[in-house]
Amino acid sequence: MLQRGMARLRWAALLGVGGHCACFGLPPPAWPARRLPAWVRGLSPLQRLSQMLPEPQGPCSPLQSAPRTRHEVPEASGPAEELAVSSSTPPPRDVPFQVGDLILLSSHGRHRTFRKIMKLKDTGQLSSNWGAIRHQDVLGKLPGQVFSSSTGYHFMFRRPALEDYVLLMKRGPNISYPKDVNMMVMMMDVHQGDAVLEVGSGSGGMSLFLSKAVGSQGRVMSFEIRKDHHEIAKKNYKNWCNAWKISHSEEWPENVDFIHKDIATAAQDLKSKTFDAVALDMLNPQIALPIVYQSLKQGGVCTIYLASITQIIELLNGISSCRLALYCEKITEVTLRDWLVCPAKKKDGTFVQRVQPTTNLDSELHTHEDDEGEEGEEEQVQAEDNGETLSDSPYGAVPYIARPLHWQCGHTAFLIKLRKFKPAHTLSTSDDSN
Ligand SMILES: C[S@@+](CC[C@H](N)C(=O)[O-])C[C@H]1O[C@@H](n2cnc3c(N)ncnc32)[C@H](O)[C@@H]1O
Repeated sequence: MLQRGMARLRWAALLGVGGHCACFGLPPPAWPARRLPAWVRGLSPLQRLSQMLPEPQGPCSPLQSAPRTRHEVPEASGPAEELAVSSSTPPPRDVPFQVGDLILLSSHGRHRTFRKIMKLKDTGQLSSNWGAIRHQDVLGKLPGQVFSSSTGYHFMFRRPALEDYVLLMKRGPNISYPKDVNMMVMMMDVHQGDAVLEVGSGSGGMSLFLSKAVGSQGRVMSFEIRKDHHEIAKKNYKNWCNAWKISHSEEWPENVDFIHKDIATAAQDLKSKTFDAVALDMLNPQIALPIVYQSLKQGGVCTIYLASITQIIELLNGISSCRLALYCEKITEVTLRDWLVCPAKKKDGTFVQRVQPTTNLDSELHTHEDDEGEEGEEEQVQAEDNGETLSDSPYGAVPYIARPLHWQCGHTAFLIKLRKFKPAHTLSTSDDSN
């Protein structure tokens, strides 16, 4: 029972009950600050979590430094303080924010979420309609730091992951969504060292994921018919590489050749090349297929990103009228469903209280005298569980909301997987020869 209680306490801490935003560990702006003692408010989410865990028996765990009294916990944490929490020698990736860093600011209000990527400078401030934060205050801090803006919103500051960057970078045409590109990479079975052909550089979103998938030993060739899109794709790619350099010892591989050309006129450029895989994100991909087909290795996969089923029918018609040996292995769609999991709150920002059932156990057991056995036992266990939740756990009185979000990502694209094959030889049989 005690173990179960402890496990619940840990889950409560991880989910952020008792002062953190459930999904991200951020105190939501509407949270009345006076509810928590000052020394707790000064802690980072990681520090709060470590306070809730039992003391380790052996040497200090990575989450906890040597035991300290609560008065020793600093109010704000700079890089030196953060390092004291993790370990004395920082791993090489613990690089504090520097000028030129791309920073993702995120904040989660009751009904709105703020997410924006900004570049860190040595002067001025990062401003938005959720308030401002001075660049100087951010420089030197480690990613994961929470800042309070001039208007009182709390922001988590960290370096964007590739997915964040692609979703939030400046766009020309619409991007291929990361969820879809990852599926395409899987469908093409792209590995480090592979050569991949992309048609429709667009904003450079897919190019970045392909670049990551093939690594420093691989190569991506990306064609784009429009000059403005070609420039945007190159710029987005360059910005990502530059920001990457700041926080990593190894540079991002510059392995994408962006080519400004209509794929329909690129037969000569591709003549001597063989690709492990091909990815098309363009209108009328059936126009490109006869060209790219020649350079796709036998058994290799061409994936296509198309918004509507009628376009897929056009595509399949194109393949059969051009008599291309491409077998359609799969037509699929990637659907995601996001959930809301957080403590239930009233409109005034205070927590909803769990209503304890008032079942009279004695009379219940009495009524079910005739059905003695397993069912009766089950009911008793349930009653003990309730007792423990409400009395032993400090969070037991707060019920949770746990349901799919009302707003979900809608349809983005269908993904088509075509495999290049060699048609079978017609074998002559003894019957045929007669
Ligand atoms: C939807 S965008 C691609 C977006 C890209 N996948 C990304 O993630 O940023 C389609 C692009 O295909 C390009 N395109 C269309 N026809 C083309 C062709 N024949 N040759 C090369 N590019 C073409 C368009 O100009 C457009 O930029």
